[in-house]
Amino acid sequence: MFSTMSKVNAGRCILRSFSTSSKKQAKVAVLGASGGIGQPMSLLIKQSPLVSHLSLYDIAHTPGVAADLSHMNTRAAVTGHMGPDQLEACLTKCDIVVIPAGVPRKPGMTRDDLFNTNASIVRDLAEACARYCPKAMIAIIANPVNSTVPIASEVFKKHNVYDPNRIFGVTTLDVVRANAFVAEAKGLDPAEVNVPVIGGHAGITIIPLISQCKPSVSFDADKLDAMTKRIQEAGTEVVKAKAGAGSATLSMAFAGARFTFSLLSAMQGKPVIECGYVKSSETDASYFATPLHLGRNGLEKNLGLGKLSAYEKDLVEKAIPELKGNIKKGEEFVKKSA
Ligand SMILES: NC(=O)c1ccc[n+]([C@@H]2O[C@H](COP(=O)([O-])OP(=O)(O)OC[C@H]3O[C@@H](n4cnc5c(N)ncnc54)[C@H](O)[C@@H]3O)[C@@H](O)[C@H]2O)c1
Repeated sequence: MFSTMSKVNAGRCILRSFSTSSKKQAKVAVLGASGGIGQPMSLLIKQSPLVSHLSLYDIAHTPGVAADLSHMNTRAAVTGHMGPDQLEACLTKCDIVVIPAGVPRKPGMTRDDLFNTNASIVRDLAEACARYCPKAMIAIIANPVNSTVPIASEVFKKHNVYDPNRIFGVTTLDVVRANAFVAEAKGLDPAEVNVPVIGGHAGITIIPLISQCKPSVSFDADKLDAMTKRIQEAGTEVVKAKAGAGSATLSMAFAGARFTFSLLSAMQGKPVIECGYVKSSETDASYFATPLHLGRNGLEKNLGLGKLSAYEKDLVEKAIPELKGNIKKGEEFVKKSA
C-alpha cells in the first residue's frame, strides 16, 4: 500500500478535518480502478463530500491513478493498491466496494462471451471482500452482470457471510440510457425523466418500463418497440462506435458513481430508490432487477415490478429463461471451482 497524501495535502486535510468533523466516515473501494470505467468513476467518487477514504485497487497502474486523484482538494483521502497481496489493505473497513474489474466487449461479442475471463476475476475479488469486508455493500459492474452477481453471492455463501441485501448488480446505466433516449424523443429535460428498467443487464433481459415513466409518456406501438430495442442494444451501439476500443466507459462511470452515491446517502440515513439486480423472489428468476428501496442496511424493500402493460409482460416472459440460464451458469461456476 502506498499513501499518496503529500505533506502539503496532509496539512490541508488536517485543517479540513475541523470543518468536516461532523461528516460521517465512509470508505469506498474501486476494484479495477485503472480501467476505462474505473478511472473516470473514481474521479467522480473523489468529488463526493460523503466519502472520507477512496481506496483504489487494480493489477496495474494504481500508483499513478491514486497519485493523480490525490491532488484534488476534495475530502476523500486516496490510497492506491496493486496486486492481490494488497487487497487486504484496500478492503479492510470498506463500506462500499464497486467492481468494474474485467475485460470489456469488442464488436461482435455478447456480454456472455466475457464469462470465461471475468467469472474468475469476480470470484477472486468477491473472495477477498468476503474475507476482509464481509459487511460492505458490493456493487458489481463487471459483465456478464446476470452471472457475476450470482458468482459473488455463492462466494459469500461459502464464507458464511452472505447477506442478499448487500450484493447488487449495477444496472443504472440502463436507467440512465432509457431516461436520455425517452427525453430526447419527447423533448423533455433528461434529468427530470425516470424510466424504471427491470430484468437483467444483457439484450432481451433489459426491460424498460416505459408505461411507468415519470412524467408519463406514450408512444405508438412501433415507436415503443423501436425505443425498447434501442435501450436493450444501447451498449452494442457504443461497442460498435468505439470499433474495438472497448465498451461504454464514461456513461458507465457516471451511472456507477450515481449508484454509489445512492448507496452512500441511504447508508448515511437518507433512503433512496434505485433500480438494481439483486436476489429476488419477484419472478421465477432467482435474481432480477427492480426498483429497490435502499436504506442503512442496503436493500430494505424490493419495490417489485409494479403494474406492467401487456407488451412489458411479454418482455418479462421472454427474458426469464435467458436469465435463469445466466444465473445457473454463474452458480455452477463457483460450485465447480470448489
Ligand atoms: N454494468 C454495466 O452496465 C457495464 C457497462 C459497461 C461495461 N461494463 C463492464 O465493466 C467491465 C470493465 O470495463 P472497462 O471498459 O473499464 O474495461 P478496461 O479493460 O478498460 O478496464 C478493466 C480494468 O480491470 C483491471 N483488472 C483486470 N483483472 C483484474 C483483477 N483480477 N483485479 C483487479 N483489476 C483487474 C484491468 O487492469 C483494467 O484496469 C467489463 O466487464 C465491462 O463489460 C459493465
